Parts: sequence; C-alpha cells; structure tokens
Amino acid sequence: MKRIFAVILAAAVAFFCVPSVSADEIDPELIAAAQADGELIVYGSCEEDYLQAACDRFELLYNVRVTYRRLSSAEVQKRIEAENGSPSADVWFGGTTDPYNICAGEGLLEPYEAVNASHLLSPVFRDSEGAWYGIYMGILGFTVNAAKLKALNLEIPRDWPDLLKKEYRNLIWLSNYSTSGTAQLILNTMVQKYGREEGIRYLVDLDRNVQVYTRSGSAPAKNVGTGSGAIAVGFLHDGISQIVDSGSENLTLIIPSGGTSYEVGATAIFKGARHGSAARLWIEYALSPECVEQANECGSYQFLVIDNAEQPPEIARFGLSPDHMMDYDFEDARSNTSAYLADLLEALGPAVDSRFQ
Ligand code: G6P
Repeated sequence: MKRIFAVILAAAVAFFCVPSVSADEIDPELIAAAQADGELIVYGSCEEDYLQAACDRFELLYNVRVTYRRLSSAEVQKRIEAENGSPSADVWFGGTTDPYNICAGEGLLEPYEAVNASHLLSPVFRDSEGAWYGIYMGILGFTVNAAKLKALNLEIPRDWPDLLKKEYRNLIWLSNYSTSGTAQLILNTMVQKYGREEGIRYLVDLDRNVQVYTRSGSAPAKNVGTGSGAIAVGFLHDGISQIVDSGSENLTLIIPSGGTSYEVGATAIFKGARHGSAARLWIEYALSPECVEQANECGSYQFLVIDNAEQPPEIARFGLSPDHMMDYDFEDARSNTSAYLADLLEALGPAVDSRFQ
C-alpha cells in the first residue's frame, strides 16, 4: 500500500499545475444519448454535501435532470439486492468497497469500460470487469476528542486493543454494522487481523465501551467533534472535516499503530438501470477532475485516485501517512461479510438494538 500512496502523492505534486481535463472531451454522442434519456437517479453513500454538489454540477454540465438520495453503503446494497435487477436508481456514488464487490459478485452492477478509467492511479482502484471504479480512498482510524479525554484524566488510545480498556466505557462511538459500510469494514478488518472467532470476540468486548452506534459511518466523528462522544472509530478524513469545517480544534487523528485498513470509495451503474446512457456518462464524469475536485470544496478530504486531479492539501497537513496500512483482503470480504455479520449480530444479542440508531 505504501507504494500506492507514494504514487498518489507524487501524482498530486506532478499534476499540481495541470489544468483540469475539460468535460467537453467526453464523447458528444454519449452526451446526446444521455440527454435523450433526460434523467438520472443517483444513490450516494459519500457525504451529502459532496453528493449534492456532484449531482448539481452533472445537471449543469450536461443538461440531464438528476435526483439523488443519500443512503449508507449497506443500505444501498440491501435495497439493490431486494430490487433484484429492477433498480429504483441508475447509479451509485461513493461508499465503501465491500458492498460494491458483493453486489458485483451477485450480478447487480452493470460493467462498463470507462474511457476516463485510463486516469486511475492503480488497478486496485477498479473492478477488473469494470463493474465499479474508485473515486477516492480513505483510511480507517480513531478521531479522538483530546480535551474530553484530558478532562477525564484518560490517555489517547493508540491501537485497536487500547479501545477495550474499561476506562473508555460509554465513550466510544461506532456506526451500525447493519447499515454502514464503514462499520462492516471495521468488522472485516478485525476478522482479518485477529481471525474469525477472535475478531468477533474483540467486537463483542468493544461493545461494552460503545455509547452509540450511528446509522452512517461519518456520524461518530461529528458527535466526537461536538463532545457528545470522546472516541470515534471511522474514516480519518471525516475527522479532518470536523476540524477544518466545524471548528472542532480539540480533535486528534490516530492511525492505529498495529495496522489499519482502507476503503476505495467507488461508483457504479446498477444492472437494469432505466437511464443507461446517462449512467455511462455519469461514470465518465465521476472519473474526471470536474467531479472529484468538488469533494475538497465540500469538506470531503479523501485521497483522490485519478492522476489528473489535485489532491486536497489537508491530507498532507494532517500527516495522514500510509505507514501501518495492512494488506486488506477484499476477496475475503466479498465472500464472507454476510457470514461474519450474522456471527457478530448473534454474538452481540438483542440488547445492542437499543443503541443502534
Ligand atoms: C463517509 C465517508 C466516506 C465513506 C462513507 C461510507 O461519508 O466520508 O468516505 O465512503 O462515509 O458511509 P457509510 O454510512 O456506508 O459508512
């Protein structure tokens, strides 16, 4: 992974002064066909501000009416599985990799060979068949309200085992394993680090310290930013946006010292999409600087994964380093997430439901 990050950062520097590729370079025939479709429906699992900006700009650039809805990654997966080839939306934008891989394996995503995929920094950032493409990358870690911990005379946790200390009882915020792709990445990460039984046991032990489980993956960082919680487990760029955009100065970002994993935030066309040309145009757009550079303007500070986009300066400013990144097994997650989830929910028992938001 270090190499991939090095390439990303090198590309960021090399392309710093290169003007954005014009959206006009997209095949005019594809644009005309999309306009004939007239409409595009987007399910988005990134932050809503970014989702809205991306949809508004697509509508403006291509004169195709866009409607969108923000749903967490596992919620989109469940909905698309239930709709089984007659999807209520055309494309999926943002959200963690595993639900995309699972839907691709179930034949619920429409492969498309995107022209702009030539800009991806690594084959890691796409499905080999073109069922999904990466638009960003995020690191899993802890966003910690250092002032709150200091007031309680507690140390900042540095690694996964630290979170089990009993002094953190009721201080940790996590997202809901049933709805959030972030939470499912945490589940898979613990199983891959510690083994199936030990990983599930770790999360059951961790549950004793969890105050609230939120529906979406970014909500823990938001609540730790306001001081409702002390430690959020989730993506570190969600912590950055609390510091930069919400003025939560007391937050400290921790990459677990014993290793952590990452998401490749993706975009894809749903199999059976009613507005197929508009959906293909969306994929080309989503792989362009015109789309992904808006993330930064909207408070979403992930690594960008195309070579012609400018990286958000906040990544370097907050020292998000690739050190300690584990070799996350996406194939294991594709095949086994639902079995691990069933194990975990059974082990947690019904008592946890009252803390699931
Ligand atoms: C936040 C992060 C994204 C991530 C998403 C997953 O929006 O900024 O990088 O992809 O959460 O959402 P979920 O609610 O499925 O955990």
